[in-house]
Amino acid sequence: MSVAKKEYKRITVKSLTEMKNRGEKISMLTAYDYTMAKIVDGAGIDVILVGDSASNVMAGHETTLPITLDQMIYHASSVIRAIDRALVVVDLPFGSYQSDPKEALRSAIRIMKESGGHAIKVEGGKEIKESVKRILHAGIPVMGHLGLTPQSIYKFGTYTVRAKEEAEAAKLKEDALMLEKAGCFAIVLEKVPAKLAQEVAESLTIPIIGIGAGGGVDGQVLVTHDMLGMTHEFNPRFLRRYLDMYTSMTDAFKQYATDVKSQDFPNESEQY
Ligand code: KIV
Repeated sequence: MSVAKKEYKRITVKSLTEMKNRGEKISMLTAYDYTMAKIVDGAGIDVILVGDSASNVMAGHETTLPITLDQMIYHASSVIRAIDRALVVVDLPFGSYQSDPKEALRSAIRIMKESGGHAIKVEGGKEIKESVKRILHAGIPVMGHLGLTPQSIYKFGTYTVRAKEEAEAAKLKEDALMLEKAGCFAIVLEKVPAKLAQEVAESLTIPIIGIGAGGGVDGQVLVTHDMLGMTHEFNPRFLRRYLDMYTSMTDAFKQYATDVKSQDFPNESEQY
């Protein structure tokens, strides 16, 4: 189905609901630094997620758990300086919101004040309901995240598809409804069966953004470094690689080393 795209000067949480109502799919990608965010924003991507996947992609940690609130604020403020149009959503990192609602609010306020981000994202359902409500009460837009929630990886034990069993699917639906009722403006659904994700998207009025959740949802998100093919160890079925930057970059670096060693670089026109 082709849907007429409305040109937004700036994407807001309201624009995302309008897109869902019009049947226009929402595009979302991650960015953690100024240069990448400038390119992603300039390409017209609707939402930029300063994901805690920075812990893996930027810092080389095995999980998203080690990244700190200060580090997320650093990444988010770099992204914000690059943005003209996209809505910038910033992950609250592990440990900054799970213990109690007051701490959750303090962390969300720090993100908004110190980075200039437009909204925050939190992982989980009814366990974090009071924190979500308190953050929303302060006027901070909240995006939920259900299904595979990487901050709970040690509870799950694996990164396999979530909510395949009836009981877990039922809990996911309840959690999604709870997040909508609490006032979240959107929910990320990660690595769940496409049929379940579509059911959730059809039953809620807020946009559902999928990653490994099929095509029946309201938008898609990928980790930019993965879709550009800069990372090559991570190969889930849902990942479409739009470039093979790992190979292109390796070739460029090798060529540079060759040119330096052979004294081909710099040449006459590359010096003063
Ligand atoms: O941190 C992240 O990049 C995310 C996406 C995978 C949705 O949460």
